[in-house]
Amino acid sequence: MNNTHPPEQLEKLRKKIRQHNYRYYVLNDPAISDHDYDQLMLELRRIEAENPQWITPDSPTQRAGAAPADQFEKVRHPAPILSLANAFDAADVYAWLERIAKVDQRALAADFVVEPKLDGLTVVLHYRDGVFVQGTTRGDGEVGEDITANLRTIKALPLRIPVERSDDETLTIPDHLVVRGEAFIRIPDFEAFNRQLEADGKKTYVNPRNTAAGALRQLDSSLTAKRPLTLLVYQIVTWEDAQGVLGARQPATQVETIQYLQSLGFPTPESDYYRTLAEAVAAHSHWSERRANLDYEIDGMVIKINNRQLVVDLGVVGKDPRGAIAFKFPAQEVTTQLLEIGVNVGRTGVLTPYAVLDPVEIGGVTVRQATLHNFDYIFEKDIRVGDRVRVKRAGDVIPYIIGPMPAARRGDECPYVPPETCPACSQPVEHLADEVAWYCVNAACPAQLIRNLEHFVSRGAMDIVGMGIKIVEQLVEAGLLNDVADIYTLRSRSLLTLERFADKKAQNLLEAIRVSKQQPLERLLTALGIRGVGEVVAADLAQHYLDLDALAQSTTEQLESIEGIGPNIAEAIVDWFERPSNQRVLSKLRAAGVWPKAESTDGEGEPHARLEGLIFVATGKLSGFTRQEIKKYIQSHGGRVTGSVSGKTDYLVAGEKAGSKLEKAKSLGVRVIDEQELRRLVDDA
Ligand code: IVH
Repeated sequence: MNNTHPPEQLEKLRKKIRQHNYRYYVLNDPAISDHDYDQLMLELRRIEAENPQWITPDSPTQRAGAAPADQFEKVRHPAPILSLANAFDAADVYAWLERIAKVDQRALAADFVVEPKLDGLTVVLHYRDGVFVQGTTRGDGEVGEDITANLRTIKALPLRIPVERSDDETLTIPDHLVVRGEAFIRIPDFEAFNRQLEADGKKTYVNPRNTAAGALRQLDSSLTAKRPLTLLVYQIVTWEDAQGVLGARQPATQVETIQYLQSLGFPTPESDYYRTLAEAVAAHSHWSERRANLDYEIDGMVIKINNRQLVVDLGVVGKDPRGAIAFKFPAQEVTTQLLEIGVNVGRTGVLTPYAVLDPVEIGGVTVRQATLHNFDYIFEKDIRVGDRVRVKRAGDVIPYIIGPMPAARRGDECPYVPPETCPACSQPVEHLADEVAWYCVNAACPAQLIRNLEHFVSRGAMDIVGMGIKIVEQLVEAGLLNDVADIYTLRSRSLLTLERFADKKAQNLLEAIRVSKQQPLERLLTALGIRGVGEVVAADLAQHYLDLDALAQSTTEQLESIEGIGPNIAEAIVDWFERPSNQRVLSKLRAAGVWPKAESTDGEGEPHARLEGLIFVATGKLSGFTRQEIKKYIQSHGGRVTGSVSGKTDYLVAGEKAGSKLEKAKSLGVRVIDEQELRRLVDDA
């Protein structure tokens, strides 16, 4: 860093990071690896930690970490945040045009834009001099709630506009720009998020929209940051600059609005231009066909008059602007009878109830089953066998039961009693005190075996290409696989006796299996499917223990001393290694040569080893690091990071609002330092 003009250099670095962020989260076209991106962020955090006076609110480091709020402040919108009138068929849409043409004849000659109607939450974003300064919910359309800290955590939201690009030199922005968009969660992100919750024994969410709504209303934005929210922006609410509220430079049409928002670096929805209303209406069948393949939920499409001035002149009826209409899809919610409640057994032995329904068509698909999430859900909603229930199917999300219709009860409905034994292996089921899930803990349970194998070979785990669910089932059925280690003793002779297994296929599979032996320790740890051990925990364990032998010897206390591992996961790990059936699997893996060792990155070489032998705990809100980053930082200089303060702790790195750990450190006489002092330890040692 050049000391004479540091902020300029700093701004260059920020610009670079913003561009990469934009490419990753908005364009979906990353130009550098995650690792290189992390390095840039680390560098920026380092500079800002050393020079806190240079931190600006639009710095890429300022996305997470505001102190939790007691409540949301109310904010009056600069202009009403309007709603939309609905149309349910083409006739409704033509009737709309007729109605508005009576108010302004020009509507008859209008051209249109069609956009998907995103099923998320409206957000209103304020930019002053190009910097994101405030964001609110819609509220009642007049007054919303200030959720700025939560919105900042959304990576697709630009903290500064324009997001620097080479071709935007001539772009102008007003002093105060307020835009409107929709915050939501993409379906694959929602499902991955739920899978992780399930693996942790936590309650899963019902659908992406509720999850997004809950995330935006968190008083603690660090929780919002953990939800995979994203954003699309489609409207300019107000444009204020020296030329007045209706400055001549603002986009004159919706087509131009979307182009303009895009060139500022906002993520925008697809937006198609149509010369006539008939053409716009015809787009409805196209969108309803695409709906099932989109990775986000939509509940219709929006037809907008393209000319902004005409929209303004047409005015508003109630809360609906005359210049646009929502052309909805037929309801995705129906009612039917709940015939029975079945129970699935997942990979980790989690029992998940599902509804067997009187078959019913929803949006062109016959639905026979729907998820009931977990047993608590059934009791909370008082869902009884025989009830008439409301079922929803939206986009790609698995159909689910919204709730019963108690008014339709006839008296012969039965409250549900969960099974005491596993439906697949008849062994007793278990329940951990503070988790919602019930588990089958029998490692030999056949239902679990298939799920376990599926997980073991999957992409984030051992990544055995070509070993899909069909083949797993076939191999289990043929008795060739009784546990995951059996994969490594498969021979072509036995594969060739199976149906649909020609020589080539068998060779390819064996080759993929052979290659997977080289997977690093963290992959194998993920693959073993220990409850609570996902990719992140597996990487921490691999780094800490370096091989399975050391991990197998670990106690719950030692495990809990690792940052990010709580008592439940620690217990699950110890429990897993204690089971004789798992020990057998491990010795088979070792015999087959599947026994990776991780290399320590602790104390690598002289310059990195300045914290060698020292044990650290971090607590409170840090300004220059995330938790993961400070851990990496300490480890890369040879130190160890543990989760709780004890007599062995050398330093507690305390940020703002440090609580019980700080008290404990003081009472034990552990040295307490801040981030700056930590850096000094590294630099001066
Ligand atoms: S335009 C005055 N465009 O749908 C303009 N709204 O049912 C009104 N929505 O509250 C909004 N996608 O939150 C517009 N492409 C889109 C939209 C969209 C989703 C939401 C919006 C609104 C609701 C009305």
